Amino acid sequence: MPVTVVVGAQWGDEGKAKIIDLLSKEHTYVVRYQGGHNAGHTVVVDDQKYALQLIPSGVLYDHVVPVIANGVVVDMPTLFKEIDTLEGRGISCSGLKVSSLAHLIFPWHQTHDAIAEAVRGDDKIGTTLKGIGPAYADKARRVGVRVGEVVDIERFAATVKARAIAENALIEQAGEPPLDVDEIVARFVEYGRRLQPYVADTVTLLHTALGRREQVLLEGAQATFLDLDHGTYPYVTSSNPTAGGACAGTGLGPRDISRIVGITKAYTTRVGAGPFPTELLDSDGDTLIDVGREFGTVTGRRRRAGWLDCVMLRQAVRLNSLSEVALTKLDILDGFESVKVCTAYRLDGELIDYYPDRSAVLARVEPVYETLSGWQTDLSATRESGTLPKQAKAFLALVEAQVGVPVKVVGVGAERDDYLLWTP
Ligand code: GDP
Ligand code: IMO
Ligand code: MG
Repeated sequence: MPVTVVVGAQWGDEGKAKIIDLLSKEHTYVVRYQGGHNAGHTVVVDDQKYALQLIPSGVLYDHVVPVIANGVVVDMPTLFKEIDTLEGRGISCSGLKVSSLAHLIFPWHQTHDAIAEAVRGDDKIGTTLKGIGPAYADKARRVGVRVGEVVDIERFAATVKARAIAENALIEQAGEPPLDVDEIVARFVEYGRRLQPYVADTVTLLHTALGRREQVLLEGAQATFLDLDHGTYPYVTSSNPTAGGACAGTGLGPRDISRIVGITKAYTTRVGAGPFPTELLDSDGDTLIDVGREFGTVTGRRRRAGWLDCVMLRQAVRLNSLSEVALTKLDILDGFESVKVCTAYRLDGELIDYYPDRSAVLARVEPVYETLSGWQTDLSATRESGTLPKQAKAFLALVEAQVGVPVKVVGVGAERDDYLLWTP
C-alpha cells in the first residue's frame, strides 16, 4: 500500500510543505486533497523561497506528477499566476493534473466571504477572504461549478453567467455593489480555455498508478484543528484536512493508505480567531513570533503563538491515525532558558488529559505544563540526533512519550536540508 498522507497536527503552517518536499524524493504523485488558495506552503531551496497556494509542494521535483484532486476548490486566477511564476523560475508545471470533479471558486465567493465576516463583526472567524467557505457551501448546496465543465466552453459560459446573475441578487440584497457579470464571464471563459489541457480523471489516474505500485503522497492543507468537523468550530476552515478527508478528497480508499505523518511545530501557532489554550501573550510569545517569523504566507497576518500542546497532539493522533510525527522548527526554541510542554488541562479545577470536543469548553481550560531546561545552543547545523544537546533530546523524548507515536523527522531550519532523522 504505497500511499502516504501528510497532515497538519495543529492549526496550520506547521511546515507541511518542507516535509512534503523531503518525502517527494520517494514519491511519484503528490496530491492536494482539500482546501484551496487559503493554504500557503513554503519550500526553501538554496535560499530560493517557493510559496505555493494551490500547486502541490512536490512540483519542485522533475519526477513528480502534481495532482489537484476532487476535494480541492480551485481559484483559476491564482492557479495560473502560480503556474506562470513557477515556470518563470524554471519549474515546469506541464504535468499538472486537475480533477474534473474539483469545484471552481468565482469572485462572488470572495464577496460572500467578506460579507459573512462583516456580518459577524467582533465575532469574525478571521478567514483568509479567499472565498473558500462560500465555494464549499455552493458544493454542498449542489450549485457549484466543477472543473470538468470547462471542457464544453459554450455551456460553461452560460452556467457562469447564470450563477453570476443569481449571486449578484444576493450581493445587492446585502447592500454591496453588484459584480460586473460580462467581465467575469469573459475572463473566466479565458481561464476555462486555459484549464482544459490540465483537466483529468484523477481518480482513475491515481488508482492506475497504485496498480503499477507507484508511490503516492497526499498533501494536506490547513490542519486537524481547522477541520470543519473536528476543529474548533466555528473557527475552522470549510473542508476536512484530517486524514479521512484524504480519501473523500481523492477517491482512494482507507485501505490504500499505509503511512500517515502528522506535522507539528516544536511550539504552537494559530492565525485567525478561536480558542488556543497554550497561547502566550507575554515576551515568550513575542520571541516565538519574532524568531519563528510567524507571519502568514497568504495574508501577512501576525500569527498567535504559544507552547507545544500535547493534549491536542494526542487528539490529532486519534483523529488521523497518525503513524508518526515530524516535528519542525526545533531551532526556534534555541534561545530559551527553559521550555514548556503542555501535558494536560485543568477544567473547573479538575485535571483532564483529554481534548474537550466543544470550543466553548476548550476556551475555558488552563494548560498544565512540564518545564524543561532549554539547550541554548544553535541547532541549525545539527544533522545527527546523537549530537543534539541532552536538553533537546529530553524535549523530543517527552513529546514522544506524550503523544504515543514516534517522532521521525526533526526540522532545524527552513532550508530543504535542514533536518535530522531522530532516533532516541
Ligand atoms: P505549511 O503551511 O504547513 O506548509 O507551513 P508554512 O510554509 O506556512 O510555514 C512554515 C514556515 O516555517 C515556512 O516559512 C518554512 O520555510 C519554515 N520552516 C519549516 N520548517 C522549519 C524548521 O524546521 N525551522 C525553521 N526555522 N523554519 C522552518
Ligand atoms: P496552511 O495549509 C493557517 C485559517 C484562517 C481562519 C480559518 C478559516 O498554510 O497550513 P478560511 O479562509 O479557510 O475560511 O479561513 O482557517 N486558515 C489557515 N491558518 N494555515 C492555513 O493553511 C490556513 N488556511 C486557513 O486563518 O482562521
Ligand atoms: Mg502555511
